[in-house]
Amino acid sequence: MNVLILGSGGREHAFAWKIAQSKLLNNLYIAPGNAGTANCGTNVNIAVTDFEAIKNLVWEKDINLVLVGPEDPLVKGVHDFFLNDDVLKDIPVIGPKKDGAQLEGSKDFSKQFMQRYKVPTAQYATFTKETLEQGCQFLESLKPPYVLKADGLAAGKGVLILNQLQEAKEELKSMLLEAKFGNASSKVVIEEFLHGIELSVFVLTDGISYKLLPSAKDYKRIGEGDTGLNTGGMGAVSPVPFADNTFLSKVEERIVKPTIEGLNKEGIDYRGFIFIGLMNCGGEPYVIEYNCRMGDPETEVVIPRIESDFLDLLVGVGNQCLEEKVYKTSENTATTVVLVSGGYPEDFSKGYEISGLNEVKESLVFHSGTKFEGEKVVTNGGRVFALTSFGNTIESAAKKSFSSAEKIHYTNKYYRRDIGRDLINFF
Ligand code: AMP
Ligand code: GLY
Repeated sequence: MNVLILGSGGREHAFAWKIAQSKLLNNLYIAPGNAGTANCGTNVNIAVTDFEAIKNLVWEKDINLVLVGPEDPLVKGVHDFFLNDDVLKDIPVIGPKKDGAQLEGSKDFSKQFMQRYKVPTAQYATFTKETLEQGCQFLESLKPPYVLKADGLAAGKGVLILNQLQEAKEELKSMLLEAKFGNASSKVVIEEFLHGIELSVFVLTDGISYKLLPSAKDYKRIGEGDTGLNTGGMGAVSPVPFADNTFLSKVEERIVKPTIEGLNKEGIDYRGFIFIGLMNCGGEPYVIEYNCRMGDPETEVVIPRIESDFLDLLVGVGNQCLEEKVYKTSENTATTVVLVSGGYPEDFSKGYEISGLNEVKESLVFHSGTKFEGEKVVTNGGRVFALTSFGNTIESAAKKSFSSAEKIHYTNKYYRRDIGRDLINFF
């Protein structure tokens, strides 16, 4: 088979690394990819939302399956584009159509969906500029902290958590009246704050059956001890010690099954990943959000723990025969530590030469923001690498990732030295 992966981050490198090991694979293409994905297949410099260019590539390279990494092309309808095109319509796209991608593309849609199918989530209400006054009154009825969410995609920045009522009202006004997050905040979801510990579970579905992929915990803040600004993710651990079998079976019964059934009832043919952001509130799971894709850096710990042929699973998704496919995961713990460019998630410089990659022996090196400049590999993004290691314990895996992090060099390198620390003595 010839496979095309859309995307350019650590998530896509982890996909490419895994798919490159499949017996079913002939040629692998990654668009646009990065300096790491170039070791697993051929990079093609096409933007993930340039559907016409993707079509030409699929045609030219005789691609048999397309795996979509990020949400943007899904929300913009790349899967629908394939289905509506005579040349492309029989080529499986892994990732939902526009209708299913709304689970991530619209918070209001996803909250209504959860309500319809009784999926446990925080109480909420949605407001527009016409109902701003009611929004302020609703805030008055809640206890702090106040959670305000822009309805649409806002590059991971559309959620505000505020301690003061007055500040929450000001922000609501700014989102609705001044388009703080552009069109994404023309509707705002206000919800109850959930107290608990966060984790994510990932589901791979062909629309009928599903496989529950390993759970993971992401470290979102830039600073150690979960301080400072939110990032795309600074590290991850899988499995999550507080997601034991009892908890996971609650997740499956109360959340995963109703979600798949709900999609079916709505006539949404969903083939791809559902990333379920959860809060564990005293042992009870609540959904914080759905995403229509895998997480980054969660993928870099989830995918390496899958022992079966990942491409074969994707074929099962495309052909709706996932139930028949073998799915096995490793018992080992995986940790990943993300190396970033100093300044990230605010302004940072790119183009610094990277050295030491060949010195890393104990970890998988997944590239995020890198590119080739001639023969050299240089930094090309905020998140630069995700270093994934295995161990019998979180501590032993994380130790390898930290030691690998010291072997890679570039100007203004930064990483969190506490990934997994909060979980080591969890019990
Ligand atoms: P989201 O984009 O919906 O995942 O929200 C971003 C982050 O805000 C989440 O990862 C949580 O840390 C936090 N968050 C969102 N909703 C809530 C909530 N209802 N209660 C507590 N924290 C929340
Ligand atoms: N790491 C969080 C995300 O991919 O959205």
